This record gives sequence, structure tokens and C-alpha cells, in this order.
Amino acid sequence: MRIAMLGSGFIGRFYAESLQGQRSRDRIVSIYSRRETSAKKFASDYGCAHWTTEMEEAIARPDVEVVCISLPNNLHEQAVLLCCKHKKAVITTKPLGRNAIEARRMLEAVEKAGIFNGYLEDLVYTPKFLKALESVKNGALGRILWSKSRETHPGPHSDWFWDLEQAGGGCILDLGCHCVEIARNFIGKDIKPVEVMCWADTQVKPIEAEDHAIGLVKYETGAIGQFEVSWTFRGGLDLRDEVMGTEGTIWINNFLRTGFEMFTTGKGADYVSEKTESNTGWLFPVGDEMNDLGYNHMFTDMFNSIEKGIAPKETFYDGYVVNEIMDACYRSSKTKKWEPVNLEIWRGKDKSEPIHAVGDYDAGHYLVKKETMPDGSVKVILKDKKTGVISQTVIGNR
Ligand SMILES: NC(=O)c1ccc[n+]([C@@H]2O[C@H](COP(=O)([O-])OP(=O)(O)OC[C@H]3O[C@@H](n4cnc5c(N)ncnc54)[C@H](O)[C@@H]3O)[C@@H](O)[C@H]2O)c1
Repeated sequence: MRIAMLGSGFIGRFYAESLQGQRSRDRIVSIYSRRETSAKKFASDYGCAHWTTEMEEAIARPDVEVVCISLPNNLHEQAVLLCCKHKKAVITTKPLGRNAIEARRMLEAVEKAGIFNGYLEDLVYTPKFLKALESVKNGALGRILWSKSRETHPGPHSDWFWDLEQAGGGCILDLGCHCVEIARNFIGKDIKPVEVMCWADTQVKPIEAEDHAIGLVKYETGAIGQFEVSWTFRGGLDLRDEVMGTEGTIWINNFLRTGFEMFTTGKGADYVSEKTESNTGWLFPVGDEMNDLGYNHMFTDMFNSIEKGIAPKETFYDGYVVNEIMDACYRSSKTKKWEPVNLEIWRGKDKSEPIHAVGDYDAGHYLVKKETMPDGSVKVILKDKKTGVISQTVIGNR
């Protein structure tokens, strides 16, 4: 693939490392950056033949097959509309929009233009996530009841994130978008998110947006997607997922305490991993950030899909649904009530049955619980199907 990269900052460089890493044939052929010095530096670092400080110039180039948007949130829509104008495949970083209205406009524009659109939600492409999702899809966890995802760190690395107008929100929008999409994947993207309850506050930073939030997203089956996000967490980048189903559980730690621990006095200390706050003492480095954060698998899915003429796993539609959920979270954080998710565009199931996983013990009883006790006996707790009476029976020695 021949790529135009828009933006030469933090994520533009991460994407470039992934896109051109190992023995990749994909090349960034044009870089747009608002400052000439940054554009030239990026072009030189990644061997781009062309650089420009004019966004449209990069997009319109005949050699460009796909445009990768790595710009601040307030510039996503402008860039997407230019891709529609020039009929270029477009992939954009998260969040799709600053709100659902912007996201919906972008979704409608790419579909009207008939161009390929991919939503770069890397955290549903990490090797651990892909393996976990496969287990969930195979039924290893039974019916999914609850998916919890946590993304917290000490705050973003550029001025625009902290400005409500440019960013569109605080940590809910910046980090919650990852968590919401992780939960949607585990619970089922075709199951409708119906309502949300969210607490958000600005506790530490001198900003208008929230720096700390917790939210519950209720799905039509009754499953709950929970997110915990913060720009005030100390100690690095905490990225953890938990999934609970009627038959099993998954815990994933993506970044801290992944099995790689290192101590250093600080001699020769350098970059350790994203948002790590210290480079001395006990550290938790990440072996391969590009791979462990999902960038490699994400671009593989995007480019394979472009070549096959099919939609990738994550599209602008997914980005739009995530924005609608987050808009509802913002409403709930103000009203302090459950707020409906107003999905004006919904392409999943019209109706999903509530989770009901009662198991039969025998013709007359439901099984409530079975447990092996310390003395080796097995205690069985039952509910009478007719009377509703709960009883217990003990099998074995006591
Ligand atoms: N894991 C992820 O998926 C992930 C991680 C970080 C950031 N992001 C997303 O990537 C996007 C960019 O974030 P970042 O961390 O790279 O930010 P950044 O500040 O590091 O880089 C932003 C880039 O946009 C340019 N830019 C800033 N203001 C501009 C303007 N007014 N006009 C033109 N160019 C401008 C900057 O010069 C820079 O090249 C955001 O949407 C962010 O949410 C995604």
C-alpha cells in the first residue's frame, strides 16, 4: 500500500513504525504536517519521497492509495471530507469524532462517497485481545455478563488534548473510546447498547474537561460494559481488561506487570514504554509496543480488507456507535441518571433476549450452586421449580 500520513506527532510516528516495520512492503509516500520542520524530519526518518504543509496536497497525490489520519480530534472531519472529495480510502485514529454528530457526518460522507473506511481502534487487535475474543466467540466463557476495561495514565502528551474545544472531551473521549469498543467486541457488536450511567469529575488538573470517570454501559441482553478512565493515574499506563461469562473469566493485563520486570539505578536510562513515569528502580518495559498494542494486526486487517474489497473489522460505523455511547455518558455524568444511547443508525440485531442461564438439576429442581467442601463432601444448593424453596443437600462424607 502507498500511504499518505496526516500528522507527524505521537501516533503518526507509532503508526509509521508499525506500517514500515520488519520487512513490510507498505510505504508512507507522503507526509502532511502543519510545520515544515516536522514534515521534513518525518520524511527523512521514514524515507517519504514527498512532504507538505498542505493537507489536501498529500491526499490528492495520484500515487496515494490510502490516507491515514493521525491528527488532533478537531481535524478528523476536515481530513475525512477531503478523502471523500478525492475518493481515497481512509483510515482514521480514535475517537472518530469529538461527538456523535461529527462521527455521523463522517460515516455518512464516506458511505456516500463509496470509499473504504477503517476505524483505527488498536486495542481490539492486540494479540492477547484477539486470542481472548476467539475464546469468547467459541463459547469458552458462556454468555457474557460483564466486561470491564480500564485505561488510566498520568495525562496526554500535547496541549490540544487539554483544550476542550480541540479535543471534544477529556479522558472519557480520549480513553473511554478504547474501553467501550473492547466491551462491545466481547459482549457482541450486534447487541444494542441501550443506556449508560456515568460518573465523571475534574479532580486534579486545571481543565474544563473531566480527568477521571467511571461508566456503565448496559446492553440489551443485560450485559454490562464497564469502563474506568483517568488522566490522573500515577505509575504509567494501566491497560487491563476483564471479561466475565456464565462459564468462565478472562483477565488481561496489556501493559504493566506483563511478565517483564527490570531494575536499574538509572545508568543509561532512556524511554521505557508509553507514559512510563520513571526510568529508574523497578520498571515494567514492554517487549514490542507496536505488536503488544495491536498496531501490526490492525494495519494487516485494514490493508488485507482494502485489497479484498471488504470492510475491515472496525469501520467508521463502529466509531460512530462508540461516539454515541460516549455522548450518552457525558449526559449521564451531568444528570446523574441512566441515559439512553440515541443510536440513530443501528445495524445490529433488532432484539436480543435477556441473559437467562438457569441450569436444571433434575426434573423438579434448578441448580443454584455446587461446591466441594474442605472435608471432601459436595454441597448442592437447589431451588424447587414449583415452590421456589431453596434447599441444600450434601453428597459424600461429612
Ligand atoms: N492508541 C491510539 O489509538 C492513539 C494514541 C494516541 C493518540 N491517538 C489519536 O491520534 C490523534 C493525534 O494524537 P497524537 O497523540 O499524535 O497528538 P500529537 O500532538 O502528538 O500529534 C498531532 C499532530 O497533529 C499536528 N497538529 C496539531 N495541531 C494541528 C493543527 N491545528 N493543524 C494541523 N496539524 C496539527 C501536530 O503538529 C502533530 O503532527 C488524536 O486523534 C488522538 O486521539 C490515538
